[in-house]
Amino acid sequence: MMDLLIPDKTHDESRQGEALMLKAETAKNNGRKLYIESYGCAMNFSDSEIVASILAESGFETTADYSVADVIFINTCSIRENAEQRVRNRLKEFTVAKVKNPGLVVGVLGCMAERLKSKFLEEEKLVDVVVGPDAYRDLPNLINQVDDGQKAVNVLLSREETYADISPVRLNSNGINAFVSIMRGCDNMCSFCVVPFTRGRERSRDPLSIVAECRDLFDRGYREVTLLGQNVDSYKWTSLQPSPKERALEGQIEAGVENDKSLRLGEVGGVNFANLLEMVALIDPDLRVRFSTSHPKDITDEVLYAINKYDNICNYIHLPVQSGNSRILDLMNRTYDREWYINRIDAIRRIIPDCAISTDVITGFCSETDEEHKDTVSMMDYVKYDFAYMFKYSERPGTLAAKRYADDIPEEVKQKRLTEIVAKQQEYSFYRMQARIGRVERVLIEGFSKKSDKDYCGRSDQNAMVIFPVGENYKPGQYVNVLIERSTTATLIGKVIPQTP
Ligand code: 5AD
Ligand code: SF4
Repeated sequence: MMDLLIPDKTHDESRQGEALMLKAETAKNNGRKLYIESYGCAMNFSDSEIVASILAESGFETTADYSVADVIFINTCSIRENAEQRVRNRLKEFTVAKVKNPGLVVGVLGCMAERLKSKFLEEEKLVDVVVGPDAYRDLPNLINQVDDGQKAVNVLLSREETYADISPVRLNSNGINAFVSIMRGCDNMCSFCVVPFTRGRERSRDPLSIVAECRDLFDRGYREVTLLGQNVDSYKWTSLQPSPKERALEGQIEAGVENDKSLRLGEVGGVNFANLLEMVALIDPDLRVRFSTSHPKDITDEVLYAINKYDNICNYIHLPVQSGNSRILDLMNRTYDREWYINRIDAIRRIIPDCAISTDVITGFCSETDEEHKDTVSMMDYVKYDFAYMFKYSERPGTLAAKRYADDIPEEVKQKRLTEIVAKQQEYSFYRMQARIGRVERVLIEGFSKKSDKDYCGRSDQNAMVIFPVGENYKPGQYVNVLIERSTTATLIGKVIPQTP
């Protein structure tokens, strides 16, 4: 896999395999330790926070050291074959821990668990529990089954589960930005994609619980939320009748809800994504709102106008194109063609001046010719993306493409095409970065830069990483204006200038 210039944290290479830490409430402490690490997209990292929260409720403490754990969970990704291979290699490393501690429970969660189901138990003898993304509430019970000497599997997918009432514990967090899941699953059936099979049907989470979670984060000092879903533009909530659980949740934020003008927006005719963005934006002008992932077929002008209307909704859209060729897009079942995608890009440029755009591209999809590949290259020339995640096509068992089309592009050709677009993207990333030189960016300070504690880092509205010297008058969690002096392909470098009133 070649992920170029990770622009946001939706699939952050540096976080792959990250472990989570949390202390159990002392009253409930059962003396057992949980180790959980996550792979794949932001949704998985967000789910691990829900899992940690569920297990903390049953008395588990978390540890960052798997050799002292009583339960090891690995939250997995199936999107490409190499993602699965990585998990299998990691499981081998846990074998030693199991030999040392035969009572150790090893569980596989997430997309790979859902895809392989009980086959996982046959293939990997080490594994005791297999749990799909909609079955995490059952985890304490499944662990009990393993304690009783059985293996345990729950891979039931749900049409309703959104974990709306579970407040995720924020782990390994900088206390400034957080992911908030707004929907689960995907109904799109892109032919290359395993997600509809591993994460089930699309369902949206109650907007009241989303706003409550974001408000709570803001009150606790967070300054940026990223609203997460496989396809945020198809977010739809048609009933504002809170369930008893949601009422209980509202109870916790009672005063806020009653006086909250943002919540009135959605009272008539349901809530779509544009409405939801506004509801979250209205929590406070100092709360930045980001979102991922948008779908070209569903992103409406209404959403674009909402982004433009609120300064705190960031001018940054991740709009996966996958291919620039209409025949390939059709085979991919993306339900848009090249012209439609270009129309959406033009709409973004028209409605939101100065909006950064990033994308996902797949090279070497079934039957893709050199000419068709050139259409992807020319799309990159047209849009001049700020960032891109680029992948070689990897056939996934059970998908429509695996059933219908031959994976007939030789590995070297896939690689050659990938190398070509990676080089092209480098050029455009640098071009976009250079265009910011001499401008002033509003940056939310996230912490020290990776390289030096003499510098802070943070993101601009357009999601570019900005580095600037540490100063006495500002600290992480605050906004500063940074005059950009130079850039690399991935970073802007500058100095803080006084805020204009
Ligand atoms: N092969 C390669 N890339 C894939 N993606 C999804 N499925 C596959 C696959 N089978 C990429 C798409 C998607 C991103 C999350 O992963 O570009 O947008
Ligand atoms: Fe997969 Fe397509 Fe759904 Fe994205 S929109 S998760 S690529 S099926």
